[in-house]
Amino acid sequence: MSIGGGRTKTLLLSFFLLSCLCDKSHGQYFNDESAIQNVTYSYDDYYLRGSLMIKSFPNNMNAYIYYATHDGVWNMTGKIPYCRTMMAAHWKMQNPENAYGNWSFEGPISPYGISKFYVYLQLVESGVTYTDDNDSQYYEVPNGGPRSTANCDGYDVVGTSVAKGVTKLSLALNGAGCALYSPDVKYLTVSIVPYSKDMVRIKIADTANNRWQIPASIVPEGSTEGTITTKSYTVSYKTSPFTFKVSRPSGEVLFDTGVSGHPSLIFEEEYLEISSTLPANANIYGLGDMADTFRRSPDTTLQTFWALDRGTKRLNNAYGSHPVYFELRNGKVHGVFLRNSNGMDVALVSGKITYRVIGGVLDFYVFTGPTPAAALDQYTSLIGKPAFVPLWSLGFHQCRWGQTWTTTAGIKATIESLKEIGMYVDTVWADIDHMDAYKAFTLGSGFAGWNDYVATLHEEHMHHVPILDPGIPPVDNYSPYQDGVSSDIFLKWPNGTEFLGKVWPGTTAFPDWFHPQANGWWTKQITEFHGINAFDGLWIDMNEAANFLIPPGYEPAYHINNDGAWEMRGLNYRTISTNVTHYSGATEYDAHNLYGHYEAIHTRSALSSLNPAKRTFILTRSSYPGTGHYAQKWNGDNAATWEDLYLSIPQIMSNQLFGIPMVGSDICGFGGDSSEELCNRWAQLGAFYPFSRHHRAENSHDTFFFVWETVTESALKAYKIRYTLLPYIYGLMQEASKTGNAVARPLWWDNAKDTKTYGIDTQFTLGNGLLVTPVLTPGATTVTGYFPDGIWYDWYTGKAASTSAGYKTLDANLTHINVHVKGGVIMPAQYPAKTTYETVRNNYFLIAALDKYGQSTGSLYVDDGESVDAQYSQVKFGLGGNTLAIGTGWNKYRITPKLDTVKVLGYSSRSAPRRVYVNGRRVSGAQVELSQKVLIITGLAIDLNSKSVLQWK
Ligand SMILES: *[C@@H]1O[C@H](CO)[C@@H](O)[C@H](O)[C@H]1NC(C)=O
Ligand SMILES: *[C@@H]1O[C@H](CO)[C@@H](O)[C@H](O)[C@H]1NC(C)=O
Ligand SMILES: *[C@@H]1O[C@H](CO)[C@@H](O)[C@H](O)[C@H]1NC(C)=O
Ligand SMILES: *[C@@H]1O[C@H](CO)[C@@H](O)[C@H](O)[C@H]1NC(C)=O
Ligand SMILES: *[C@@H]1O[C@H](CO)[C@@H](O)[C@H](O)[C@H]1NC(C)=O
Repeated sequence: MSIGGGRTKTLLLSFFLLSCLCDKSHGQYFNDESAIQNVTYSYDDYYLRGSLMIKSFPNNMNAYIYYATHDGVWNMTGKIPYCRTMMAAHWKMQNPENAYGNWSFEGPISPYGISKFYVYLQLVESGVTYTDDNDSQYYEVPNGGPRSTANCDGYDVVGTSVAKGVTKLSLALNGAGCALYSPDVKYLTVSIVPYSKDMVRIKIADTANNRWQIPASIVPEGSTEGTITTKSYTVSYKTSPFTFKVSRPSGEVLFDTGVSGHPSLIFEEEYLEISSTLPANANIYGLGDMADTFRRSPDTTLQTFWALDRGTKRLNNAYGSHPVYFELRNGKVHGVFLRNSNGMDVALVSGKITYRVIGGVLDFYVFTGPTPAAALDQYTSLIGKPAFVPLWSLGFHQCRWGQTWTTTAGIKATIESLKEIGMYVDTVWADIDHMDAYKAFTLGSGFAGWNDYVATLHEEHMHHVPILDPGIPPVDNYSPYQDGVSSDIFLKWPNGTEFLGKVWPGTTAFPDWFHPQANGWWTKQITEFHGINAFDGLWIDMNEAANFLIPPGYEPAYHINNDGAWEMRGLNYRTISTNVTHYSGATEYDAHNLYGHYEAIHTRSALSSLNPAKRTFILTRSSYPGTGHYAQKWNGDNAATWEDLYLSIPQIMSNQLFGIPMVGSDICGFGGDSSEELCNRWAQLGAFYPFSRHHRAENSHDTFFFVWETVTESALKAYKIRYTLLPYIYGLMQEASKTGNAVARPLWWDNAKDTKTYGIDTQFTLGNGLLVTPVLTPGATTVTGYFPDGIWYDWYTGKAASTSAGYKTLDANLTHINVHVKGGVIMPAQYPAKTTYETVRNNYFLIAALDKYGQSTGSLYVDDGESVDAQYSQVKFGLGGNTLAIGTGWNKYRITPKLDTVKVLGYSSRSAPRRVYVNGRRVSGAQVELSQKVLIITGLAIDLNSKSVLQWK
C-alpha cells in the first residue's frame, strides 16, 4: 500500500518522530504495497464474508474494510472495522494467530448490495489516527450492486372519477412488476383531496384498502372545508406511467414525481418508493428527529425514520419521527408531509428527494405557504396546534440523575445552593432515582418526606416534575402491573403471551396504548401516584419504546438505515418486537413510530382528568407529527461537548417546524464531563431555549450553576434577561398555540428573501424581536454573527449595533452573551423575581426599539398563567414620534401590575423631553433621562386595563 494523497505534511513528519512499535517504522509500513494480501470473499444479499492475509501487524493497528455502492440515488459506504480493543463492531475480523497472518471477516451489507470494497489499514498512535487512504486498492463485487429497477414500470391510470372536488384515479400495475423487495400491489387508488385553499392531500393506497393506515384519532387527517374556489396550488398527473405534480398557479413546480432515471412509483407489500424533483441546491429543513445542520444537505442527506433510544449522534435517526420538510425557495416556503408511520429512509441527493418506506400508504400533504409562518400555520392546522404551556414551565428547571439527587435531602441542598447564589428557579425535577427499584408510580426510601418537600415548593410557588417510564415490571404486590393485567392492557405476542423487555426496573411489560382500557388504567395510576407525589407535570421518557434487549422479530427485505452508517441494526434493535400486535390488530411493525406520541395523548388526558381546569405540562422524548398538541419535548441524551452545544440550535429550530415550539436541550450536556468554559457558554445559550432545563447523567460530575464562579455570573446575567422578558416569551407561546408560529426562529423566518440567512444555524431569534448570538467554540472572546436588515440594538447598552444586513464581530468575553433587540419591536417586560410567579406580579416596563422611521409596535398577552381557555387580556402598543398609544384589543383578564417605565431605543432627539402626559394629563412624578439615544421615562403608573396615550414634550 502507498501513502495516500490525503495526508498532510505535518502528519507525515510525525510518522518518523514516533517511536517504532514493531520492527518497522510506520512510514515504511504504510508504504508497503503488499501489507494486505490474498483477499478472498463471497457474498449474498445480506452478507459479505472473506479472508485476507496481513503481512505484519504493529500494535494499535486497525484493519478496516470499507464497502461502497452507488444505486443512482445515493452512495453508501459501510465500515467493517476490526479494532483490537473493540470487538463489538458489527463487522468482525478474527485472527487465530493474533498478530499477523490470516484473518477472516464478515458482516452485513446495506440493502443496496455492494459494488466494491476497500481494504486498508489504520494506525492509532497517541490518540492520532493515521489512515492509509489509498482508494485504489479495492475489490469489485460483480452483480453485488443495487437491485435492478429495470422492470419497475410503475402503474397506469385506468379509471378516473371526480366527486365533490375529490379526484379519484384507479391505477393498475404495469407488466409483472419488479418485486424489488416484496410482491407488488397490483391495484391502487389515488385520491387528490383539496384540504384547504393552501393544502392538498394526495393519497396513494391499495384499492383493496387492506393496508395499515394511521387512525385519524391518533394523527388527524383533516377533512375538506367545503367547496374551495381559489386554490394556491394546482395538481396535475400523467397517466402512463402515473406520476403527479403539484405547482403554484404561477406554474412553479413544488413536487413532481416524474423524475428521470427513477421508477415512477414502486408500491410493494413491504416496500414503497417514490421520488420528487427538487431545485439544484434546494433549501430543505425538517426531516427529523436528527442531529444535523438546520439546513439539510441537499446532496448527501439520508434520514431514517424509526424511533430509537440513541443520544445525540449526527447522521442518525433519533427518538421521534417527523417525515415533513419545509423548502425555502426564492423567499417563499412550502412544505410536504408524508402521513405514514412506518419505518422509512428519505434521501436528498442533487435535484431530488426519494422516499423508501417499508409499509403503510403514501399519503402526502403539500402546503404552499408562502410565508414561513403561513406554511407552519397550514401544517399545524392539520396535525394540531401546539399545546399552550403553563406560564411556570417557562422558568428555569433543575434536574439531575444520580449522585446527590438520590435523596430528598440531596435535592433540597442543591435547590438551597441555587437560591443562595440568587439563581432563578421554578421547577425541581426528579429522575428515576425517586422510584422504589425503578418501578413507575412509586417513591423509594431515599425520597422519604418527598411530598412534604413538594408542598414546600408549592408554597414558594415552585413546581415539581418527575420522570415516568412506560415499562411496567411484572412483580407481585405492584398494582400498576396487576391492574394492567386485569385490564388486559399489556402488549402481547401474536400467540397471546405477554411481551417482556428489559428497562430500568429489569423485566418489564409495556402498555398497549391502542387498548380501550389503556386510558383508564394509565389515568388511575397517575391519579394514585399524584396522591403520594403532588407533581405539576410529567416527564415521559423511554417511550420509543426503549428496551435494553433486542427481541426476535420480523425484518423486511429492505433494511432501513436504523442507527446510521448502515450498521444494519434491524427494526428490533433495543425496542419492542415488530411481531407484537396491538389491540386493534395493528402490528408494532406499522405502529412503532407512534408509541411515544400515543403515550403523550393518554398522559395529557390523564393529567386533564386529574385537574380539568389546568393546562398540562408533559415532557416527552419520542414524538410524531401532532405530539406538540399534547406535549413538550427535549432533545434527549446529549453530551457535554461543543458539538452538542451547537447542535442544540438546529434541533430546537427543527422542532418548531414539527409543531413543537416548547423544546430544549439539557444545559451543560447530559453525558460526559463539562468544562467550566463549556458549561458557562451553555448557561448563556440555555437561558434562551424555549424549554430551559439543566440536567446531568448519573456518571458525570456536578455542573450546577453554583459550581463555578464564571458559570454563576453568566447564568444570573442570562436568566435575568429571560425572566425580564417573560411576558414577551409567554406571548410567543400563546401565539404559537393559535397559529403554530415558531418561537425560536431561524434568521430566515422573518427575512425569507435574504439568502444569506438560509444556512445560518448558530444564531436564532425569539419571536421576531430578540436575536441571540451565542459563543459555540472554546477559547473565544469574540463572536461573529449575522444581522438581518434593520436596526439591531444591544440589549445591555441600548445602542444600535447594526443598521444594515451583514456580519458583525462582537465582544463576547466569558460572562457575556450577545442579545439584540430589533428596531420596530416593542417588548413587554417585567422586573424579574426568582420565580415566574413572583415576576408576573411585578410592574411592567416596555422596551421600544425604534426602526428607521422612528416607530415600533408590540403587544402583551396576560392571563392567569395556568387555566385552560383562560380569560385573557391583550394590550397593543404603538410608538411614533413622541407618542405611545396603548390599546386594549381584548380585556377580560384584570391586569394588576402597572406599566411604570418606558425605555425607547434609538431616540434621536437631542434634548430630553421635559414633560410627560398620560391621556393629556401631566404626570408630575415622571422622570425622563436621555443618554446615547436611549430615552427612559420612569415614574409612570399606567393602568393596562384600558386605553391610554403616553406623550412627552
Ligand atoms: C498468498 O498468495 C500467494 C500468491 O498466490 C501465494 O504464493 C501464497 O502462498 C499465499 N499466501 C497464503 C498465506 O495463502
Ligand atoms: C456517488 O458515486 C457515483 C459513482 O461512483 C459518483 O459519480 C457520484 O459523484 C457520487 N456521488 C456522491 C454524492 O458522492
Ligand atoms: C409465544 O411467542 C413468543 C415469541 O415467539 C414465545 O417466546 C413464547 O414462548 C410463545 N408462547 C407460547 C405459549 O407458545
Ligand atoms: C415474527 O413473525 C414472522 C413472520 O410472521 C415469523 O416468521 C417469525 O417467526 C416471528 N418471530 C417471532 C419471534 O415470533
Ligand atoms: C464583557 O463584555 C461586556 C460587553 O462587551 C462588557 O460590558 C463587560 O464589561 C465585559 N466584562 C469584562 C470582565 O471584561
